[in-house]
Amino acid sequence: MARDNRTAKGNFLENAWYPIAWDADLGSELLGRTIITKPIVLFRDDEGVIHALGGRCPHRFAPLARGKRVEQGIECPYHGLIFGSDGRCAVNPHDDIVPKTGVPVYPVYLRYGLIWIWTGDNDRADASLIPDFPFLEDPTFEYTCGTIYGAGHYELYSDNILDLSHAAYLHTGLNASAFLIGQRKFEQDGNRIWTRIFHPNDYASDVTSIICDVVDKKQDHWVDVRWDPPAAMTVTGLVADPGQPKDVAIQSPSLHIFTPESDEATFYFWAAAWPRRNDPVFADQVRAGFIHAFENEDKPMIKAQYELMGGDTFWDLQPVLLRGDAGGVKARRTLARLIAHEREQDNSPAS
Ligand code: FES
Ligand SMILES: [Fe+2]
Repeated sequence: MARDNRTAKGNFLENAWYPIAWDADLGSELLGRTIITKPIVLFRDDEGVIHALGGRCPHRFAPLARGKRVEQGIECPYHGLIFGSDGRCAVNPHDDIVPKTGVPVYPVYLRYGLIWIWTGDNDRADASLIPDFPFLEDPTFEYTCGTIYGAGHYELYSDNILDLSHAAYLHTGLNASAFLIGQRKFEQDGNRIWTRIFHPNDYASDVTSIICDVVDKKQDHWVDVRWDPPAAMTVTGLVADPGQPKDVAIQSPSLHIFTPESDEATFYFWAAAWPRRNDPVFADQVRAGFIHAFENEDKPMIKAQYELMGGDTFWDLQPVLLRGDAGGVKARRTLARLIAHEREQDNSPAS
């Protein structure tokens, strides 16, 4: 039976920007990644311009990412066809070029240090649709960032961020009970969803206290989680002396974006920012703490969840819904609606 509020397996939003790599992770070598099951090869041309092409050679389906950069483009590692940055076969060392031989070309855009790729209709690629992460361009902040690769469906990763109450149980070393006992509100503004937590006059979680330099001080503590489809989030922790307004609070914003490789695995692009200190040791501590929590606590839990789902979809398993799930459920429903709408457009006679 078709339901309008789930994303079935193999359903991805195609007309969307997905981070595929941090700019710093693309050197002079080819980089191959699969995004929403589409194999892609990334490279820089001689001017440093980034290109994204379909990563599967149309001859015998070899991975172009294992090939090499040559003057005309990318040379397939199997039988030597060369594809230019326009996707067309530029050289066939065996014979004349077979007409129409080529690979897809994907629009790319560099923003916030991330390489974003548009996986849908090229004509609809509009860079203004990339959500804003202003703290990554604000000199009053500094940040650390990285990429984690994990098993499991990307919506389970979004759930993880949209319901931070899990920190009280899964990240027991963080003393993050404010996420569980604070007042929680859920808002929707178009396709954007907010989960907001407010916990007054108490000790903030250890991470927020350390990053905002308010250890052992009772604070009013806010956490704003923002979700944009398909799976781009910010988490902003804010602290202020009790009774002070939110707009004077010290902020610790972070980026969490989940790019599906497939239904079964996800790239997690993250960045954590704090008011500038110019202290590399502090930066290393934040980085190590973030990676520890995610690699050793969240990621194994999401993998185990996904395995126990046994290939069923989320809604088929009739999950129990708790108070903190409202943000995740709104996100799932919004994404399912957008995907269904995209499919309808694809199937309409006019398209
Ligand atoms: S598989 Fe690429 S040239 Fe044969
Ligand atoms: Fe977590």
